[in-house]
Amino acid sequence: MAQVPEYIPGLAGIPAARTSICYIDGSAGKLQYRGFPIEVLSERCSYEEVAYLLVFGHLPSASQLEEFRNQLVSERGLKFRIIDLLKTLPESGHPMDALTAAVAAMGMFYKGDHIADPEFRRLSVIRLIAKLPTIVTAWHRIRRGDDPIKPSHELGHAANFLYMLEGEVPTRLAERVFDVALILHAEHSMNASTFTARVTGSTLTDPYAVVASAIGSLAGPLHGGANEQVLTMLERIDDRSPHAVRSWAEDRLARKDKVMGFGHRVYKVKDPRATILQGLATKLFKKFGSTPDYDLAVELEGQMADLVGNKGIYPNVDFYSGIVYQKLGIPMDLFTPIFAISRVAGWLAHLLEQLEGNRIFRPSQIWVGETDRAFVPIEERA
Ligand code: CMC
Repeated sequence: MAQVPEYIPGLAGIPAARTSICYIDGSAGKLQYRGFPIEVLSERCSYEEVAYLLVFGHLPSASQLEEFRNQLVSERGLKFRIIDLLKTLPESGHPMDALTAAVAAMGMFYKGDHIADPEFRRLSVIRLIAKLPTIVTAWHRIRRGDDPIKPSHELGHAANFLYMLEGEVPTRLAERVFDVALILHAEHSMNASTFTARVTGSTLTDPYAVVASAIGSLAGPLHGGANEQVLTMLERIDDRSPHAVRSWAEDRLARKDKVMGFGHRVYKVKDPRATILQGLATKLFKKFGSTPDYDLAVELEGQMADLVGNKGIYPNVDFYSGIVYQKLGIPMDLFTPIFAISRVAGWLAHLLEQLEGNRIFRPSQIWVGETDRAFVPIEERA
């Protein structure tokens, strides 16, 4: 009899690709893009430079970076029919759904001959990275009855997003903090949305369908949606004294409810991105004043370390990102779309890698149902 392979829920620990994009050592809290430590990239680079590194596999020269930036700037605008499409969507809907719809529609406006065409691939990469921020900000304004703000030709990727939200050029500190947040979310190996992108890409469909499917996967509360849920969770904690925070956490853990922003399939220590984001948060608060949610988050982190640190449950990237975005004046339901406008670079890097020596994904299954059942005509069924 053939041996039944073991079923591993969530495919935990099963390699799905050979890759040179993102290296993680979860027990040492190490994260590297293309071999460069995240601490160095977040200190020295802009999002555009990191996106180039991820997609093309090497750091750009000054002229390559300038050309890449110019290409992104020239592709920031949206076709008026995509804006019209956004206008037809219900304003009560989640921005992630609006983003999925608009990105899927892009595939109809920017049809290429075949994914094997390098020029189609190059243009799709530029368009997707360039246009996602414009879609998110346009829809945010449309849903509240305002006209979208046209993208700036002068501002960098991070500053332009903040500018398109409210029409104000951000301060240097706000721009830098947001730029670093984008860098930190740009790639993270074989998570659910990246796996989705690789599976969709393996069918040789177009890159817009690949990114639309990845956005749908990112939207879930166990993945990108967690950053929004962290703030909702913190806001529901009324008594913020250390004693009350501890019993709140104990209760939640006893009920087996997840504490949002904690835990990670890969990290068994504090996520290095959470440490960097916390540093950014403290810089912001020094300049613009702290928030009660931040003080509560620090208290909760301490109590959780005491309660479940021995199980390797520590803050992940989402624990502090929402607090930072809130301080930048970004509405809560845009937190996950921001994750998408950053992660698109990682998804595209994985798509391109998948297409080298592609084989369509087709895992097996373990049958647990009945077989060869007798069919009962409908009039004879109980
Ligand atoms: N709060 C309380 N307990 C937790 C948590 C948490 N946040 N995360 C894991 N655990 C416990 C879990 O109850 C289980 O305990 P036991 O063995 O006693 O049953 C054990 O740790 C293993 O948990 P799991 O859910 O099987 O672990 P996983 O690797 O399947 O899930 C995770 C990883 C990120 C989905 C999970 O930690 C979680 O749901 N966290 C909260 C949501 C969150 O913050 N998500 C953002 C992830 S990071 C950004 C991203 O990749 O999108």
